Amino acid sequence: MEMDKLVSLCKRRGFLFQSSEIYGGVNGFWDYGPLGVELKRNIKDAWWRDMVTGHDDLTKAEGAPEPYEMTGLDCTIIMHPQVWKCSGHYDLFHDYMVDCRQTNKRYRHDQVSGRWVEAKDKRIFATAGSDSDSPEEDITRQALKFFGLRNKHIEQLQWDGGITPLTDIKDFSQVLGPHAKELGTLTEPREFNLMFKTTLGALGGEEDAAFLRPETAQGIFVNFKNVLDSTRVKIPFGIAQVGKSFRNEITPRNFTFRSREFEQMEIEFFCHPDSSQKWYKYWRDRRFQWYLDMGIPEGKLILREHKPEERAHYSIGTADIEYAFPFLAEGEYGELEGISHRGDFDLRSHMLGKLDPNSEATPMEVELNEHGKPKYRGSGKDLTYRDEITNEKYTPHVIEPSAGADRATLALLCEAYTEDEAPDDKGKMKTRIVMKFHPRIAPIKAAVFPLVKRDGMPEMAKDIYRALKKQWNVFYDEKGAVGRRYRRQDEAGTPFCITVDGQSLEDQTVTIRHRDTLEQWRVKADDIVGEISKLINV
Ligand code: GAP
Repeated sequence: MEMDKLVSLCKRRGFLFQSSEIYGGVNGFWDYGPLGVELKRNIKDAWWRDMVTGHDDLTKAEGAPEPYEMTGLDCTIIMHPQVWKCSGHYDLFHDYMVDCRQTNKRYRHDQVSGRWVEAKDKRIFATAGSDSDSPEEDITRQALKFFGLRNKHIEQLQWDGGITPLTDIKDFSQVLGPHAKELGTLTEPREFNLMFKTTLGALGGEEDAAFLRPETAQGIFVNFKNVLDSTRVKIPFGIAQVGKSFRNEITPRNFTFRSREFEQMEIEFFCHPDSSQKWYKYWRDRRFQWYLDMGIPEGKLILREHKPEERAHYSIGTADIEYAFPFLAEGEYGELEGISHRGDFDLRSHMLGKLDPNSEATPMEVELNEHGKPKYRGSGKDLTYRDEITNEKYTPHVIEPSAGADRATLALLCEAYTEDEAPDDKGKMKTRIVMKFHPRIAPIKAAVFPLVKRDGMPEMAKDIYRALKKQWNVFYDEKGAVGRRYRRQDEAGTPFCITVDGQSLEDQTVTIRHRDTLEQWRVKADDIVGEISKLINV
C-alpha cells in the first residue's frame, strides 16, 4: 500500500486533518476528524477494557507468575517541575541537533546520513536529511550538484563505502549538508531538550517555569502512595493511564508517527524485585498478543530486545513491539510500544532525588552533589511497600508497557486499507477502497439504508436505525444509488450495511451485507439488534 493513498483517504473521509490547516498547518500536530475520533476512541477503549476494567484480578492469567490487580488514574499534564528533575527528563531527555549555517535548516544528528564520494580530485561526504524519502537518490543529486556534473557524467562519481550515519563522522569540514552548496556548513551537534516549557501564573519568572509532560508515567509514580492508601491493592498490581504527552521533536514526520502532541496508553506494573524478570517477560508477550488480537498479522509485527546502549536512562531492559509501517523500507519496522524494566529507578528518585545512570553508580544509586547530598531534592516521602503477610519492606520494581495511541491508530489504518473489486449498481465489477477494521474498532458499526425513499421504506429503516443507535454508532443514509452508499461505507470501514427493500415491507425481513465478503443475507427486522451484537463481538 502506498502511503499517499492512505493520507489522501484520511483527509477525504475525515479520519485525520493537519492541525490549523486553514493557516497553512503546524508541523507535528494532527486533528482527528469525525471518523478518526471514533476509531482512536475505540482503540483506547479496547486497551482500557482489555488491560484494566476487563482484567480478572482473581485468576492467574496465561503466562503470568500469579494473579494480579489492575487499576487506573487520570493525572494532569502539568506537574510540579521537581518531578522532571527527579525523573531525569530535565537533564537527560534530549536529542542532538545540527544546524546548517548556509540554509538555516536544522536536523536531528542521528537522522542525517551520507556517503563518501570523490570526483575532480576532491573527496567529500555528501548527505541527505531525515526529510528525505530516498536518501540514496538525494545523496547522489547533492554530489552531482556540488561537483557541477550532469546526470550523464554520473560515472565520474567514485563512491567509497555505503551510506553511513553522520554520527560516525568526527570532522564536519568535508561534509556537504543535506541542502547546502558548500562544505563544512553544519555546526557541531548540540543538545536540545524535548520538553515543552511553559510559565505558571502571571508573574512569569524562571522559578515559575513548568513543563508539559513528555510521558504519562510520572503521574503514576508520584501517585503510587495515594493509590496504595486509597484502595486495597496489593503487589503485584498495575496502574494504567491514557492521556496526552508532548515532545518538541526536532523532525516530526511520517504522518502521525512522530508528532509533537500525541497520546500514550501506559501501565506501570509494581512487583517484587525477585519476580520482576518473570513479569517483564509476561508483559512483553501479553502486549504482543494484544496487537495480533486487534487485527495486525503476525508477519508484520516483531518483538525486538534493545541493546544496552539503546536503552533510555531509566531502563535496565527494554523490548519494542514494532510494525512494518508502509512508509519504511522493506525489512524495516517502526515502534508501536516499548516494554521497559524500570527497576526501582522512579520510586527511589522521587523519594531521594535524581539518580544518575551515567555516573559510576548503578542506576539504583543516588547522584550526589559536592556536599554529598542528592543532586536534586526528592519528595522525602516514603514510597516503599510493606508486605502485610511477610512484613518485608522494599521498593517495588516496575515493568512498564508504554504504547502510543496514535501509533496504534496509524498501524490499524495502514493494515485496514485495501483495494479490491466489488459490483457497482449495474452489477459490473469495479475497484473499491475498503477499510477492513476489526468490527470492535470500526468507527461506524452499521449503516441502515432504505432501498428507495418511498413506500414506507424510510420509516422502517429509521426505526431500525433508532433501535441500533441505543448501543452503537450507526449511520442512516437514504441519498443516491444503493451501490454508491455501500462504497461510502466501505471507505469508512463500516462492517455491516442493513437494507430495507420491498420484501421488507411484506415479510418484515431486511438484508445484511458483509463489508469484506460482500455476502448478503436476510434476517428478521426484530432480530437485528441481537444479530449485529453477535457479529460485532466475533
Ligand atoms: N514512559 C515511557 C515512554 O514514554 P517512549 O518509548 O518514549 O517511552 C512510548 O514512548 C510510546 O509512545 C512509543 O512506543 C510510541 O508509541 C509513543 N510515542 C513516543 N513518542 C512519540 C511521538 N513523538 N509521536 C507519536 N507517538 C510517540
